[in-house]
Amino acid sequence: MNAPVSSLPVLTLENACLTLQGNAGPVDILHGISLEIEQGQSVGLVGPSGSGKSSLLMLLGGLEQATSGSVVALGQDLTAMNEDALARFRRNKMGVVFQSFHLIPTMTALENVATPLELAGHADAFKRAEEELRAVGLGARMHHYPAQMSGGEQQRVALARAAAPRPAILLADEPTGNLDGVNGQAIMDLLFGLRDRHGATLVLVTHAPELAVLCDRIVHLRDGRIEGETNPAETRDAEPRVSAPRVSAPRDSAPRDSGAVA
Ligand SMILES: Nc1ncnc2c1ncn2[C@@H]1O[C@H](COP(=O)(O)OP(=O)(O)OP(=O)(O)O)[C@@H](O)[C@H]1O
Ligand SMILES: [Mg+2]
Repeated sequence: MNAPVSSLPVLTLENACLTLQGNAGPVDILHGISLEIEQGQSVGLVGPSGSGKSSLLMLLGGLEQATSGSVVALGQDLTAMNEDALARFRRNKMGVVFQSFHLIPTMTALENVATPLELAGHADAFKRAEEELRAVGLGARMHHYPAQMSGGEQQRVALARAAAPRPAILLADEPTGNLDGVNGQAIMDLLFGLRDRHGATLVLVTHAPELAVLCDRIVHLRDGRIEGETNPAETRDAEPRVSAPRVSAPRDSAPRDSGAVA
């Protein structure tokens, strides 16, 4: 138990495969994925559309069961757990942000964020939820229903909901996909704040170079396989575009500490 925090494997996939039933028969989506992610690491998952990024995130979250191979999270074999155990595990240990948000349409933003906190037994669920929503710039939208919010606003509610219980593992699918520079920056601050302040492990699917480059590792997927891995630190420290050809250099985006919201 005295191992350094940074060397504990939090997520381990071994030869994980995923086959789903399509209309025309079975479709092989992921082929023999092996990956180990340590506590407190942030991993960017990148690759072309259809390469299997969301599918891999679903495997990591136990939302899809691997057809073969193993998926172990925090020492628990997700492939051996039933739905109830998986739901409990996710509630206590994981935050998941889906590509299509999955907010509960009959609940306001505040209720969407507070509910998982209540389920996890937090007495101050609504107070915490308010703070989380303010942190993503939604102080004025707390009592709006999802249908009354823009795509980017819904996305920020989904992030606040996932981050509020301080999960050990946060899985997020395109977390900055619908956001402008300022709001994207707020989300990046929230995500990396979870890692820096609470030791969370982050797996972020992204097409955004400015997000990928902030991660500790970038894993490249293609056609359902891991094609390779790059070290964003090399991109940050060295000449732009030299060592990570699949991830273009970060844009000259808004400064990290720009507090003003236009
Ligand atoms: N339920 C399903 N049945 C059959 N095929 C599926 C199913 N869900 C996804 N696929 C296929 O699996 C492949 C990987 O899909 P996935 O959603 O993981 O890609 P992605 O990398 O996240 O793409 P994007 O960047 O567009 O979100 C795609 O070819 C997709 O058509
Ligand atoms: Mg996807």
